[in-house]
Amino acid sequence: MMRIHHIGYLVKDITAAINECKNFVGEGMIQKTDVIHDTLRLVDISFLEIDGILIELVAPQDGCTDIGEGIKRLGNTPYHICFECDKIEKAISLLTQKGCLLVKEPQPAIAIDNRMVAFLYSRDLGLFEVVEASTKMDDTYIC
Ligand code: NI
Repeated sequence: MMRIHHIGYLVKDITAAINECKNFVGEGMIQKTDVIHDTLRLVDISFLEIDGILIELVAPQDGCTDIGEGIKRLGNTPYHICFECDKIEKAISLLTQKGCLLVKEPQPAIAIDNRMVAFLYSRDLGLFEVVEASTKMDDTYIC
C-alpha cells in the first residue's frame, strides 16, 4: 500500500513560484522548508503545504541536464506524484515486476531528511517517484 507523499512541481524561478503561491493561497499556504540547494541533483527545492497536501517546488540549477531539459520542454508544470512506501527496495522490486522501469536509482534526498527516493516510469502513468517512509517516530512529513 503506497500513500501520496507530495506532488512535484517544476518551476523556473523558485522564489517567484513561492510568492505566487502565497499570492493565490494566502494564509492557507505553509512554507515547510526554506529553499534547499540539492547539490547531488543540481536542483533547488522548497516544500509548501496547501490544504494538507505537500507540494515540492523543483527548480533546475545551471548544469542540471534532465530537469533543465524538462523545463525547456514543459515550462512551469506539475510533473510527478511521489508515493511513500515502507521499504524502497521492496517497492522498486514489486513495481518493476509489474512492468515499470527504474529511471533513477535510489538516492538520499536532502530536502526530505535524507530519506531514499527513486524515480520510476510506467507506460500508462508516466514518471513517478517513491520515497521510503521515515523511521523517526515524530517525523511523519519532512524535516
Ligand atoms: Ni519529488
